[in-house]
Amino acid sequence: MLFRVTLLWLALCGVVLAQGTSPFIGGVWSGNVTPTSATVATRLTATALRARLVVSVNPTLVPATYSSFVTTSATSGNAVKFTVQGLKPDTDYHYGVEVAGVVRSEAESRGRFRTFPLGRGSFKIAFGSCGDYRHPEQSAFDAILRERPLLFIHMGDLHYSDTNSTNPDDYRANYDQVLGHLNQGAMYRAMPVAYMWDDHDYCGNDADSTAIGRDTARSVYRERVPHYPIGSAGGTIAQAFSIGRVRVIMTDLRSGSSPTATRESASKSRLGTGQKAWFKQELINARDSGFPLVLWVNPDPWIAPAEVGSDTWGGHATERVEIANFIRDNRISNVVMLSGDMHGLAFDDGTNSDYATGGGAPLTVLHAAALSSDGSVKGGPYSGGALPGAKQYGVLEVYDNGGPSVACRFLGIRVGEGPKLTHIFSSSAYAASSDQALVNISTLAKVTSPEDALVSGFVISGSTNRNVLVRAVGPTLVSFGVGDAMKQPQLAVYRGEDLVAANTGWALDADHRAVDGAAVRLTAAFDRAGAFRLIDEASRDAALSLSLSPGAYTVRVKSGDGSPGSTLLEVYDLP
Ligand SMILES: [Fe+2]
Repeated sequence: MLFRVTLLWLALCGVVLAQGTSPFIGGVWSGNVTPTSATVATRLTATALRARLVVSVNPTLVPATYSSFVTTSATSGNAVKFTVQGLKPDTDYHYGVEVAGVVRSEAESRGRFRTFPLGRGSFKIAFGSCGDYRHPEQSAFDAILRERPLLFIHMGDLHYSDTNSTNPDDYRANYDQVLGHLNQGAMYRAMPVAYMWDDHDYCGNDADSTAIGRDTARSVYRERVPHYPIGSAGGTIAQAFSIGRVRVIMTDLRSGSSPTATRESASKSRLGTGQKAWFKQELINARDSGFPLVLWVNPDPWIAPAEVGSDTWGGHATERVEIANFIRDNRISNVVMLSGDMHGLAFDDGTNSDYATGGGAPLTVLHAAALSSDGSVKGGPYSGGALPGAKQYGVLEVYDNGGPSVACRFLGIRVGEGPKLTHIFSSSAYAASSDQALVNISTLAKVTSPEDALVSGFVISGSTNRNVLVRAVGPTLVSFGVGDAMKQPQLAVYRGEDLVAANTGWALDADHRAVDGAAVRLTAAFDRAGAFRLIDEASRDAALSLSLSPGAYTVRVKSGDGSPGSTLLEVYDLP
């Protein structure tokens, strides 16, 4: 009997000894996600440990797919990276790490990711910057975890250590702090990340390519971050990748940058020569591949007055004009910027962001920060915001119904207060026509009573007729998460007091019967205009494609059933 008890006790000991002390420093995080693969990075406590990644659709990690084995070594600070291939698109996976033959059970070794859609797909990402693990308010990380985005894009200031050193251990310790943090570590384990640094997590406040820590910061980034393949971009950590039909280009505004205090000239560069050539080529490749949307992860404020010494694009104003002219001259009309650094929420619809000589590059700009740091305003002006504050982040929803355009909704969120800013826009692979006679109008507004109307106007100049697409989108907004979308928008176009045309169901006649060929004809017009597609032919979303003679026009939207609701009023010049 004693013998059997001893045996049992030894067996239990065996289990305990097998797990033993945690071999992890900090935690795991995943990235480099594609429709069929992903990378996980972590750091272990000892050299010569043989480890591999275990991936499964089940939290029990059975059955599993494995990465190749990796053995820790002192030269990389025992950091390890595993890549697993052959996964299914659009699928949730759990992962863990096997060390020395034992699948570890520590929370810091377990995580999740979802593979990306293959081809067309709608999805939601979250983005933000400026997370200080010493700050008392860390609830943004818990809120993002609850959002369950497909990806979290970190746009810099992963921490505020301001390390500028040639000792890699100094940089490694920063990652350990972030990934070992209660709230932050839990979020990074729950979703994949695409991370681009800014100054404080590179080499310190306003740091540039002259920082002594530059090469060390770059090499520890490569060893400890589950990054996408790094571009051939002058030694910077620039990366580009795709999510469905969205191309994401992340630029490194620090490690290739000339000092902002340098006098303006054609050679003063925020990107550095190598990265700039890479960036331009990435934009051309995205255009030629027909991506409806290009997200430029551009960590620092684009909109700011030109000023030598400014730590924004205003401090590299000559290069800003060069990039804006490049975008215009190459007929690229679908670049949307994701920016941080400013500790606030803001967006610009192109009103303030056009730095092309004589105009022609009105970029959409979305700002989201600070995750866990005090609020401040930088750059601007913005057409929405800026709202400074802590516990803030951005959500971008992309709705892809096929065709050359996608619809997007940006939410600037403050924890506990919900969306503080909303901006709905569409983005198209089609280049903007250089002779567009009228500016596209896009307004989201709420009608509150049966008498109330949303009114907008436009002018057709010149001496010839122009084709115009006018829409009042209501029911389809529900799929964008607009809770109070108008059920039956009544759209009417007037010239003076005269009614030109009216519609209450885009593919229906006045008796709500399907009109032969209307859906096909209007869908072609949506595509030509760069407007997102309407899918439901029986919906009461309203649309009119009209040939109009020169003059002043008024558009009115009323609620057909009299109930209050929000509608998106759009006017497009049809090329
Ligand atoms: Fe910051």
